[in-house]
Amino acid sequence: MATQICGAAPADFGARRIGAGLYEGEVYMRGSKQVVDVLNDVLAAELLAVSQYFMHSKLNRNRGFMRLADVLQRESNDEMSHAGRVTERILFLEGTPEPRMKDNPKVGETVTEQMQNDLALEHRAVKRLNEGIAIARQQGDNASAELFTRILTDEEEHIAWIQTQLFLIEKLGESTYLQSQLTSGGDAGTAAPTGAAAKGG
Ligand SMILES: [Fe+2]
Ligand SMILES: [Fe+2]
Repeated sequence: MATQICGAAPADFGARRIGAGLYEGEVYMRGSKQVVDVLNDVLAAELLAVSQYFMHSKLNRNRGFMRLADVLQRESNDEMSHAGRVTERILFLEGTPEPRMKDNPKVGETVTEQMQNDLALEHRAVKRLNEGIAIARQQGDNASAELFTRILTDEEEHIAWIQTQLFLIEKLGESTYLQSQLTSGGDAGTAAPTGAAAKGG
């Protein structure tokens, strides 16, 4: 049965190399299995975020809140960009992308519920990414730690934007806030997403 080896192959590794990262009788992976496991957890969460923002965007577009729908679609694009970069990192480390979705998208009925669900999702992402940074550094994988850090910066921007919207909703009331979201264009509220997708990355 194949044995999985984590980290660099030892200097006296005697098995015959048979392909990219593969050794006869054993499976050699360029990266740490622990880091690849975290990358797969992050990948599953990013794909969940893609779906949740996508659904919230479509819901608001259907209700005529085009400006808000546009911003939420950009948020979804940001999360897709994260999922893409995480998948590429897993493949570079010669791991297998196998996201295991532990949750379903949580679609809110009102815009306040939507923002609260998205905020909870982002807070979980920040916790997961900070843990991932610690694991990657402990495994000596600074490039994965850097990737997690770049994604973390985007998620913090997403959180700032949601908090601004919740503040505006609280101050103006939901119906007044939504009146400002009818027309496409602009960034819904201040501190709009400026993450990977918004930057074209
Ligand atoms: Fe993300
Ligand atoms: Fe996010």
